[in-house]
This record gives sequence, structure tokens and C-alpha cells, in this order.
Amino acid sequence: MKEIFENIFEEEGRILTRNMLPGKKVYGENLLKIQGTEYRAWNPTRSKLCAAIKKGLVHNPIKHNSAVLYLGAATGTTISHLSDILTNGGAFAVEISAHSMKTLLQLCEKRENIIPILADARQPDKYRDVGEVDVVYEDVASPEQADILLKNCRMFLKRGGYAMIAIKSQSIDVTRKPAEIYAEVERELSTELEIVERINLEPFEMDHLFLVLKKK
Ligand SMILES: C[S@@+](CC[C@H](N)C(=O)[O-])C[C@H]1O[C@@H](n2cnc3c(N)ncnc32)[C@H](O)[C@@H]1O
Repeated sequence: MKEIFENIFEEEGRILTRNMLPGKKVYGENLLKIQGTEYRAWNPTRSKLCAAIKKGLVHNPIKHNSAVLYLGAATGTTISHLSDILTNGGAFAVEISAHSMKTLLQLCEKRENIIPILADARQPDKYRDVGEVDVVYEDVASPEQADILLKNCRMFLKRGGYAMIAIKSQSIDVTRKPAEIYAEVERELSTELEIVERINLEPFEMDHLFLVLKKK
């Protein structure tokens, strides 16, 4: 087994995180015992961050002690793995859907390094108490994906900090070619953030581009 990033492991092609709550699954993932420690298999078809890792992500700014602002947490699939990774850090999980939040709350009760926030990521003023973070991660299916990231990075991301975004071209415009949409989003984001890495998430996710960016 190899530690490919802080607290992220790879064995026989599987990406794993150490289970903070041994014996407990979050979304039906496989649990594996390796040399007396329990790991959770991270599913790249259920999590875009895992898909990016599988596709060869080089820059992963999420460290064991990072403060992360996560936009579009849904019911907590990806953020449950962040919870395993952030052994000395934590994440604020913003989600607009009250329905998803019900499930997310149950996860946050058990995993204390995740703080749930029921809010619209287009209005970061509503959760300004979050303060400064090392990483802003965004996975919202919204036509305003780029604008949401810029607004949140302006307000919360420290200078030299990193943003990660999974851009879903279909949420922006189903009628246009994904490549055109990506170019437009990249132009908009590069006015304030430097693009460090870009990864096409196929075959795990169709029409999704994953970007790692740095605050100038
Ligand atoms: C693709 S899902 C996220 C999946 C999740 N990131 C994961 O990997 O486990 C997108 C989520 O973004 C949420 N969302 C959409 N618009 C939002 C907004 N303006 N503010 C906050 N959340 C939003 C949706 O309710 C949905 O749960």
C-alpha cells in the first residue's frame, strides 16, 4: 500500500482513506482491513475528487491539517472521505438542499471535523463567520459555477491558498460544446485565480472538467 497524498492511500488500483469510524460505512462503500487498520474504498464514480486522483491529479492542496470550505456537499459522499483525511483540520460543508442536509447532519454528528451549513453558495455573506480557509472546493450543479467560486474565494480563501472545482458543462449550457464552455469558465476564473492543473474526468464523469487553482 502506498500513501499517494497525505492520508490518501492506493492499493491495487483502489483509492482508500483510513476509516475514522471503524465498522461504519457512509454510502455503501467497501471496508478493507489492511495490517490491522480499517480503510474505506473511495469510489471514483461517486466522487469527482476521487475521479481526479484516479486520472492522475498531481496537486492536492488538502493536507491533514487544512481548513476547507466545501460548496455543494449534498449528502456527504466526498466530504466523508475529507473527514478521514483532515485528521487535524476540518471542513465547512455548504449545501442548499434541506433534503440532502438531513442526511448530511447525521454524518456530521458522528464526524465532528465537518461543520454543516444550510445555505446558498451564491450568498457567502450568509456564512461569513467561516473565516479564512486554506482550500475552497466546489461541486455545485449550477449555471453560476464560476461566479460562485470567485465570490467564495474572494471572501474566504487565504492568499496563496487553493481552489478546486468540478465544472459540469451541462449545468451551464446543454446546447454548446463542453470544450467551449470550459474555455469560457477558465477565462473567467483566471481573472483572479491561477490555473495550476486541469483534468478531464471521463470515463468516471462525462462532460466534467476538474481544475486546481491558486489565489494570486
Ligand atoms: C453534484 S452534487 C454534489 C455531490 C458532492 N459534492 C459529493 O461529491 O458528494 C451538487 C450539489 O450542489 C448543491 N447545490 C446546487 N446549487 C447550490 C448552491 N447555490 N449552494 C449550495 N449548494 C448547491 C445541490 O443541492 C447538490 O447537492
